[in-house]
Amino acid sequence: MVGTVIFGLVLASSCHSLASLSQRYGRPPTLDVVHSLLTPIWVPQLRQRWRFRAHRSQLPPGPKTIRTGVRKPWLWFQELTKEYGDGDVVYIQMGPTPTIILGSAQAAWDLLEKRGAIYSSRPRFIMGGELLSGGMRGLMAPSSAFWRRWRKALHNGFMQRQSESYRPIQNLESRVLMHDLLTNPKEFRTHLERYAASVIVTVTYGRRVEDARTDAVVRANAESMSRLTSVNNPGKFAIERYPALKYVPSIFAPWKAEVLRQRQKDINMYLGLVNEVKDKMKREVAVDCFTTYLIDKQENHGLDDLELAYAAGSPFGAGVETSAGSLASFLLACVKFGQGFIPKAQAELDKVVGSDRLPTFEDMVSLPYVTAIVSETLRWRPITVLGGTPRASIADDTYRGMFILKGSIVIAPLWSIHLNENDFPDPHRLLPECFLEERQYPGLFGHSAFGWGRRVCPGLHLGHPSVTLNIARILWGFNVSLAKNERGENIEVDMLVNLFAFSDGFNSSPLPFECLITARSSKHVQVIEQEFQDALRHLKNYAADSED
Ligand code: HEM
Ligand SMILES: *[C@@H]1O[C@H](CO)[C@@H](O)[C@H](O)[C@H]1NC(C)=O
Repeated sequence: MVGTVIFGLVLASSCHSLASLSQRYGRPPTLDVVHSLLTPIWVPQLRQRWRFRAHRSQLPPGPKTIRTGVRKPWLWFQELTKEYGDGDVVYIQMGPTPTIILGSAQAAWDLLEKRGAIYSSRPRFIMGGELLSGGMRGLMAPSSAFWRRWRKALHNGFMQRQSESYRPIQNLESRVLMHDLLTNPKEFRTHLERYAASVIVTVTYGRRVEDARTDAVVRANAESMSRLTSVNNPGKFAIERYPALKYVPSIFAPWKAEVLRQRQKDINMYLGLVNEVKDKMKREVAVDCFTTYLIDKQENHGLDDLELAYAAGSPFGAGVETSAGSLASFLLACVKFGQGFIPKAQAELDKVVGSDRLPTFEDMVSLPYVTAIVSETLRWRPITVLGGTPRASIADDTYRGMFILKGSIVIAPLWSIHLNENDFPDPHRLLPECFLEERQYPGLFGHSAFGWGRRVCPGLHLGHPSVTLNIARILWGFNVSLAKNERGENIEVDMLVNLFAFSDGFNSSPLPFECLITARSSKHVQVIEQEFQDALRHLKNYAADSED
């Protein structure tokens, strides 16, 4: 769901951005009583307009016209970054809101990390965030006391030490993934998604997912995400332009009654899932998980019951597609560039791990080359192409002589940042070596895949090890190469890594593609089989049907 929010915003605001002032501020085609409700919100907008005029000459450079109907806005943002000024701060006016696009790691770091006090809020998501979610979804919440409580709960729940307690779950599910890849390699995408969903649901609610296509918790969450996606399209609803419509009573506004009905469904689902865990805690059969942690620390975090239930639901929206998509990008990289890096990685794995067991988390410190492949995969094709949900600034600011108006939307697209030739000279090639060399880059990781500052991904210590362990194990056990067609010819890869072979939306992951995944030797097959059987025994503790 990091995913679903902004795309609509980009599209929709660009649709009415060319409207003239009189249209924008003109009388809406609604009842006069509604009209008078709107008056208060004009005032700050007009004031903003005035301050904007006063600083016009200091604004960052940008295009005069706005492109509409862009399906992959990050490609357009990247063009803007290359075209304007020094390139890494671009100004666009989308609808009434000034928007700043940050196109380099340094600019994103300087503003989102170092000046986090100004740049960590969110724009309003009136339909999705306020009406549908009642302000309970922290990812869309502006900086506020609520957001700080929510953020603290997520941060504490997934900080390094706490996340390490979930490693056994990742280890066991990863053995299932290796077995799935061995026995049914063609369906690799389904296996990656099951792995990611099962880790998240087990970590969150203490019960695993055996089939993501039929699992009740996965389906309920997916429905909730699609309710959010369908309303998070501001162009669809006048309310995003006229926020006071929010206060029209439901009996005069069937659309509002409908959104509130949808909200009730989410509430029932999130509370229901937490209540199941509470019930197991009473019967002393609950396994430790994020929800038991939230319940134990409820007073400490100051969350009420509903806030707690929504907080528990956060990892699903933010953690499944990002983890599964990163692993899909890795397989795509193998198909295109594997000949360059797979043999080196396998030599390292054979030396450090041998062929009698799967690699473990403890091995990672001794696997610098494999670790570099992981970093480079996250750099090469970041799933969160737009750098997460857009920020909003809460104060006027000046950066390198450029004026950034309070209330600006600020987007730091990872697509621009990770493919910026100043930092990565050959950006579309996967070159793990660049993570083994000394190189100037702000921050600790040498990439920005998990974001910045106060909004940095709180699931980093869960998501990163998931991606790392599975990349290491796939390289240990399998050769991954081009699939062949029925005539035995290689299926062309340039099509596969083509920029348009990635999905539209807020996040972007590879569209379905084919590849050949084959075990390296019968010895490797045997180890995968054994460790899988062993995992099944342990995973019984987390079975979904042991619930009653
Ligand atoms: C490889 C996996 C992952 C990647 C690449 C990733 C990436 C990101 C990025 C780029 C952001 C935006 C950060 C910013 O605005 O500066 C983000 C936010 C977030 N991520 Fe992740 N993430 C991953 C896995 C996870 C997991 C497993 C969880 C579950 C605990 C999670 C939970 C969140 C949440 C809740 C936010 C919103 C934070 C806020 O608004 O304060 N992510 N993630
Ligand atoms: C795996 O690929 C390497 C070359 O990268 C090759 O030497 C080896 O024979 C392959 N193994 C199998 C089992 O296909």
